[in-house]
Formats: sequence, C-alpha cells, structure tokens
Amino acid sequence: MVDELWIGIFSTDEGIFAIDAMCPHAGANLAKGIVCEGAVSCPVHHWRFRLSDGVYLDANDPRFNAKIYAVRVENEVVWVELDKQPNSIRLI
Ligand code: FES
Repeated sequence: MVDELWIGIFSTDEGIFAIDAMCPHAGANLAKGIVCEGAVSCPVHHWRFRLSDGVYLDANDPRFNAKIYAVRVENEVVWVELDKQPNSIRLI
C-alpha cells in the first residue's frame, strides 16, 4: 500500500509489472491472484487481467480494465510511477 493505493507488483518472465490491486469487479486483492501467460487471475471470481496493460481478458468491456502503473528497475530497486502524486516516483 502506498498513499492509500493498493498496488500489486508482479515479477514475470516478461518483466516486472505494477497493477491496481483492487479488482475492478468487486474489489478483491489481485496481488493474491495467480499469474499465467502474462495475466493475473483474480482470486475470488477468476477474472483475468493482462499485466502489461490492465485489459480485462474475459470480455470486451473496457469499464472493467485494471489500472496499471509504469515501472522501472534501477540497481535491483523497483520504482513505480504514481500519476496522481506531485512526487510521482516512489520506492516500493
Ligand atoms: S472480485 Fe475479482 S473477479 Fe470478482
């Protein structure tokens, strides 16, 4: 949790991704979901969200896309860009 935002950080073979951990469906914690083929599956109702862009993969309905955050790694430290903050780069 950073400044009242729940953020899930996932390290995969494709890279490191940060996604809003509050599921757009009913608020379950996506950080506890299972990752498979570049998507996280919600632990409650199993909706799948692509980690690279947050797209809800089980239906074509952008209302349910998850928010993602830009990530960069420097010297093994993961930084997440929070777009609503005046100092937008925070250490996780
Ligand atoms: S709460 Fe995540 S799919 Fe329902």
